Amino acid sequence: MDIKSVGVIGAGQMGNGIAHVFAVAGFDVMMTDISQDALDQAMALIRRNLERQVSREKISREDMETAMARITTTLKLPELGQTDLVIEAATERETVKSAIFEDLQPHLKPETILTSNTSSISITRLASRTDRPERFMGFHFMNPVPVMQLVELIRGIATDEATYKTLLGVVEKLGKTAASAEDFPAFIVNRILMPMINEAVYTLYEGVGSVRSIDESMKLGANHPMGPLELADFIGLDTCLAIMNVLHDGLADTKYRPCPLLTKYVEAGWLGRKTQRGFYDYR
Ligand code: CAA
Repeated sequence: MDIKSVGVIGAGQMGNGIAHVFAVAGFDVMMTDISQDALDQAMALIRRNLERQVSREKISREDMETAMARITTTLKLPELGQTDLVIEAATERETVKSAIFEDLQPHLKPETILTSNTSSISITRLASRTDRPERFMGFHFMNPVPVMQLVELIRGIATDEATYKTLLGVVEKLGKTAASAEDFPAFIVNRILMPMINEAVYTLYEGVGSVRSIDESMKLGANHPMGPLELADFIGLDTCLAIMNVLHDGLADTKYRPCPLLTKYVEAGWLGRKTQRGFYDYR
């Protein structure tokens, strides 16, 4: 199938990054969210991030304006039904994602491929609640989307080969690299990354090191671009906790037990950069 238009559900940090890279790669993008404010903020952020790429001579100003013109926004989810490929990038909650697919389904073209940018939830289960499990896949981008090279492709048990091949072609067109993962909790990247972040929170909780010494240790001692606590703030502590819960519930192993300190921060509403407070204070 030749994909020309893409619908992006959710204008948050993943959704606006996804809209950005698809528009730069020449796809028509329609982005939706539940508030006009969220859409306006996302468009402003996409412009800022494109400006950044222009100033570093990654793209020309003309290409930036062409990319911006390819993105339309709407508050009406059904309008995405006419696109060739839908990427859901809403909150990391299964009930929210399933409700979105249910609302969208009656408006979809029969051939549209449905995908989720979920970082951990079962693709097979999400797909089973749609009318097209054979044309449903996990399509997992990394943050910040315009910078990170990898996209995880996750086939549910019923995903057909044509859908998989179509998405492989799309990833190539984006100039990114695909990694195929089987449909098990948190797939590859988060199966490995989140327990490391959780362990960093335990290291803090048990007083082994301070926030700064933990992050400096991993940056200077293991050459990570960001320390694990800084990275947790960047991803969002609520997302980190949600992924740890999926690992803990899905694999039933105590090694995935979320650190009580991570839970406490989320309960306090200290979710990282997006709330101006997490392991660091951004106010
Ligand atoms: N849009 C466009 N360009 C951006 C950008 C954005 N949102 N953010 C950064 N950049 C560009 C910058 O312009 C800069 O470009 P040049 O190389 O051409 O100069 C480059 O990226 C580096 O940015 P900075 O100089 O501002 O800052 P930095 O060197 O500290 O790098 C970083 C920032 C790329 C975020 C780096 O710290 C990093 O790689 N961190 C780790 C990120 C990571 O691990 N992401 C995966 C998270 S896990 C995930 O996403 C999966 C999940 O489900 C939770």
